Amino acid sequence: MKTYIVGNWKLNFTVGEASIYLHKLLKTLPNYRDIEVVVAPSTIALQPLSLQVDRHKIKLGAQNAFYRDYGAFTGETSFSQLRGIADYVIVGHSERRYIFGENDKMIQKKVAAAIRNKIMPILCIGETESERAFGETTDVIRDQLIGGLTDVADDDLSKVIIAYEPVWAISSTKAAKLATPDEIAEVVKLIRKTLADIYGEKKSENVPILFGGSVGSANAGAYLTIPGVNGLLIGGASLILSEFVDIIDTAKRVRS
Ligand code: 13P
Repeated sequence: MKTYIVGNWKLNFTVGEASIYLHKLLKTLPNYRDIEVVVAPSTIALQPLSLQVDRHKIKLGAQNAFYRDYGAFTGETSFSQLRGIADYVIVGHSERRYIFGENDKMIQKKVAAAIRNKIMPILCIGETESERAFGETTDVIRDQLIGGLTDVADDDLSKVIIAYEPVWAISSTKAAKLATPDEIAEVVKLIRKTLADIYGEKKSENVPILFGGSVGSANAGAYLTIPGVNGLLIGGASLILSEFVDIIDTAKRVRS
């Protein structure tokens, strides 16, 4: 399986800044065949960047899209509009769940719409600090996973990526803490077990599981060596080109 290094730029960079970053990244990056490098800019930058990107080296991800293809949905961009432009889409990020009120039902429809439009969903799941404190992590992870995958048929599981992002470990969260490799390993095992319960062991083994939450060049190596972790979803550190490149190089080293 490839190692996935995904930069979630969130609401940062103008289109011009995004284009300059991509230009520099393309120049710096060798063509690592076993590392899938993805950057997810703001929706407005996706189309121009799709004309600029070399997809042998870097893929583009959307940060969000709406599950209906067209209609009276002011302000939305559909998966069908992003078809051929974005290769991946982040779905169910905690910022969408908690700031924009997305629930499992909407996330389930978004995962299905992404697959229908040949865009690979990166389904984000993760518990909050209080859910962990109350011992609810297992239930939350199972509910978010099962909820998000409700409409994913057996044969489509290979078109999905899961990202475990404990909300309390995301750098923009008040008093964010670093997740330890043991904490992550335990949840990744639970994710794989839940997938195996629904889809069978064989299919579940091939689903990439990424970790996200305050990942930087200093801890990327430790996180990438956690059993069952197949890549990283990176926020803040992906905005700094040298950091992002360092993380990609670390992934290459860990893989070899
Ligand atoms: P940070 O890497 O800034 O903690 O953000 C993680 C994240 O939310 C990526 O989707």
